[in-house]
Amino acid sequence: LCCGTNAESPPLQCVLTGKWTNDLGSSMTIGAVNGKGEFTGSYHTAVTATTNEPTVSPLQGSQHRTNQKGQPTFGFTVNWNFSDSITVFTGQCFVDKNGKEVLKTMWLLRSRVENMKDDWKATRVGTNVFVRLQPQK
Ligand code: BTN
Repeated sequence: LCCGTNAESPPLQCVLTGKWTNDLGSSMTIGAVNGKGEFTGSYHTAVTATTNEPTVSPLQGSQHRTNQKGQPTFGFTVNWNFSDSITVFTGQCFVDKNGKEVLKTMWLLRSRVENMKDDWKATRVGTNVFVRLQPQK
């Protein structure tokens, strides 16, 4: 057996560890992914739904096992430390035809509202596409 991708040497691509940027100009740094697929990191958003100045906020997530199929799904939560909001992201890592990793995500941003009657307007939804900020060797 030579040179293919197999269980002994999984693809180096689509492990989320590293620095990423998205189409809004936000950036995030993801630390080591542990044996259970769990990771932590930090998120610097370029935009906010509030009038506050964004500060770097913690994220926690998990990535599906990176088996021979590759292109794993993942999810993470950002607990914004400059607002009362939380965002959850879910997505999949793809390797495009040029071998470039792309994270295609959808997110839900939950804002705090004072009353239950305002619940209807408390959740925003959207998509973000992330690419590596410093492509890895
Ligand atoms: C807030 O405004 O209360 C917190 C910041 C929310 C930023 C959102 S999360 C989804 C979207 N993607 C980003 O990179 N930033 C915005």
